[in-house]
Amino acid sequence: MARNTFRIDEELDAPFQWGQLGRAVRYMGKYAKNIATVFVITVASTLLGLLVPLLTQRAIDVYIPAKDIESLLALGGVMLLIIAFCAFCARWRYRLNNRTGQGIIRDIRSDLYAHLQKLPFEYYDSRPAGKIFVRVVNYVNAVADFLSSGLVNAILELLSMVFMVFYMLYISPPLTLVILSGLPLFVAYIFITKPRQRRAFRLFNNKSSNMTAYLSENINGVRVTQSFTREEYNLGIFASLQKDTRDNYMKAVRITHSIWPVSALTSWLVVAAMYIVAAAGIRSGDGHMTVGTVIAMAGFAWRFWWPVQNLGNIYNSLITAASYLERIFQVMDEPVTVSDVPNAYELPAINGIVTFLNVDFSYEPGVPVLKNVTFEVNQGDSIALVGPTGAGKSTVINLLSRFYNKDSGGIYIDGHDINEVTLASLRRQLGVMLQDTFIFSGDIMENIRYGRLDASDEECIEAAKAVRADEFIRRLPQGYLTAVHERGDGLSAGQRQLLSFARTLLSRPRVLILDEATSSIDTQTEKLVQDGIAALMKGRTSFIVAHRLSTIRSCTRILYISDGEIAESGSHDELIAKRGLYWHLYMSQLQA
Ligand SMILES: Nc1ncnc2c1ncn2[C@@H]1O[C@H](COP(=O)(O)OP(=O)(O)O)[C@@H](O)[C@H]1O
Ligand SMILES: [Mg+2]
Repeated sequence: MARNTFRIDEELDAPFQWGQLGRAVRYMGKYAKNIATVFVITVASTLLGLLVPLLTQRAIDVYIPAKDIESLLALGGVMLLIIAFCAFCARWRYRLNNRTGQGIIRDIRSDLYAHLQKLPFEYYDSRPAGKIFVRVVNYVNAVADFLSSGLVNAILELLSMVFMVFYMLYISPPLTLVILSGLPLFVAYIFITKPRQRRAFRLFNNKSSNMTAYLSENINGVRVTQSFTREEYNLGIFASLQKDTRDNYMKAVRITHSIWPVSALTSWLVVAAMYIVAAAGIRSGDGHMTVGTVIAMAGFAWRFWWPVQNLGNIYNSLITAASYLERIFQVMDEPVTVSDVPNAYELPAINGIVTFLNVDFSYEPGVPVLKNVTFEVNQGDSIALVGPTGAGKSTVINLLSRFYNKDSGGIYIDGHDINEVTLASLRRQLGVMLQDTFIFSGDIMENIRYGRLDASDEECIEAAKAVRADEFIRRLPQGYLTAVHERGDGLSAGQRQLLSFARTLLSRPRVLILDEATSSIDTQTEKLVQDGIAALMKGRTSFIVAHRLSTIRSCTRILYISDGEIAESGSHDELIAKRGLYWHLYMSQLQA
């Protein structure tokens, strides 16, 4: 695995894919009614709004010279009504947009979450959690914003430009041409800066995602940071990540903001040119060119150039949204490599005969971890997996639980190939306890019930009693209702383990798999843990990655794993008599 994964930028040069936008638009489908309503009311209010310059023209050219106060008042009334209507539509539109946006957020995020829950360990091995958070939280927010209002606004802005061209052509074709003359210049500018802008935004996204990843890692590791007094050093790293983020943001917005002066300049030039042409027209006595016409056209010119300026922004959010979508869909497209094969069947209730046949496995291609592992375990046997650190003990149980797919060979339970049965039916019958016990936020009871959601309180307590967890739980301030957190604070390592035993026992597994924690446990809890393990093992096939002699000796068979291979196999007495690797381990532990 690469060092400092949080520092690594993600792939930058994927081409802009319109297909992604198409895929995103499907998330809008559910809200088609809202979006259509927004469309209609916005078009209506825009069309009405555009009447205002026309009415102004009429007031200046007709009513004011004629001193027709009555008509002027009526005109004012109409304008007031138009403005009120537009304000009402704006509010309505705002509410609809928000509703759509929140709906889209919910839909995309649920899809992401559902997929993330299915992704294999392999996926999580290779990336910092923070980068996943950014996608699920920040990117989804931004994308939903764009889909719910950005995209519709863009279309509306374009439409309103088209309307205005018609209005303007209706009033004065020559002046309209002058106003439009700046457009090609501006569009050309946008297209020239577009690739740079897109690149800059993606870089900024990467840097900001790196920073979030580092932050999340450090919050998780803050205890280690403080114990090694690395605060100062880490602050330096964080500062440099922040600087990267800031620099790239500044660069991205610098490019974006260069669009404003260009469009402002163009619009000023265009309006100036329009006045010159209009003045020439009025002087030459052209009857079409009246003061009212010029003022109305100037009103349109500003209104026309406003969406043009916005187009730059819209384009901006389009490319940002596209790059976020890319990341989001990347997660959704991440293959679920550990999944049911097409014709997977339900694993029937098992007895617990486990067979490994010539199993090979590597986490990373070219680095074999398990080599030709073969063994068979009878129903009810308890197997201690022992051997040096990094030998492959945890890997054996990872494969048996199908957290990873083996590369070759076969793994069978009661003769069923575990690759051929459904994952759910397999894992339901296994009781897997990984090395670090995870405690979820909630109370003790809820944490035990994680093992089987329909278990009653009595069943939970019964399970806790069986694994000897009941005693310490009752001594907690609120007993079974004591709140615990991710870190299981307030609980010792041994107590956390007892809790996970209860959780597992409750799930009534047919095969027990336990990666014993290496961390030392106080002698008092140690006795409880021993009893707990014994209760768990009773009557079921068990695999225990064992470090304590007491656990190892209580197993019926020992597999000594060395460098990815089974070096010795047999009962404690047999292996002692052999005076091999296990004997060495035993002697060194006895001395300690
Ligand atoms: N997720 C992983 N990705 C890459 N390599 C791994 C991963 N997990 C373990 N390994 C490597 O596989 C080997 C066996 O690891 P493991 O089964 O955890 O050993 P043990 O449990 O016996 O201490 C080690 O060399 C380890 O570095
Ligand atoms: Mg291990």
